[in-house]
Amino acid sequence: MMNELTIATIAGSLRKRSLSKALLRAMEELAPEGVTFVGTDIGALPHYDGDLDEDGRRPEPVEVFKKTMADADGVLIVTPEYNHSIPGVLKNAIDWASRPGFQAPLTHKPVAFAGISPGAHGAVRAQMQLESILVGMHSTIFPHRGVAVGGAPAKFDDDLRLSDQGTRDFVAAFLTQYRDWLRG
Ligand SMILES: Cc1cc2nc3c(=O)[nH]c(=O)nc-3n(C[C@H](O)[C@H](O)[C@H](O)COP(=O)(O)O)c2cc1C
Repeated sequence: MMNELTIATIAGSLRKRSLSKALLRAMEELAPEGVTFVGTDIGALPHYDGDLDEDGRRPEPVEVFKKTMADADGVLIVTPEYNHSIPGVLKNAIDWASRPGFQAPLTHKPVAFAGISPGAHGAVRAQMQLESILVGMHSTIFPHRGVAVGGAPAKFDDDLRLSDQGTRDFVAAFLTQYRDWLRG
């Protein structure tokens, strides 16, 4: 039997009816066998402050977040696009998990990401910036042609369940490919 993989998940939006959170929930529903998702609460993280980023001084939510990242076999990020980039709240979380430089929970961590937007392009500009950030901190990026869910409101029902079958199939295949890549 294969080992169960743990994948920590991050949604780059805090609001309750977030499309990014809804896509992550769909991914949990579509998770392939052998994968357990562990959610994170990046809204609980304070603004990054180097004066607090020392052993014994880090706020508890930061320690919890960093440990979740460190313990996970992989990390899955779903981001919206804010002003052609990733939301500040997501960048803040990544900054906490990027220290100490090159020996951090996200250093060499296998990371997969997806983007979602009400507009047509599925947050591709935000995803390009996210890729650049992850490369800069030596994360290992899952090589994939990309998940860009555009026109998102029409793909979810009123309860924010992913109802578009083509997207469900694509996302399920993406997760299976990510799992197989993590297993090596
Ligand atoms: C501050 C802000 C900036 C935004 N900038 C963009 C943008 O550059 N490109 C885009 O496609 N959508 C942009 N949007 C619209 C978001 O894609 C949309 O609100 C999306 O639903 C947010 O993600 P969420 O549903 O996960 O909260 C922006 C929204 C906000 C609040």
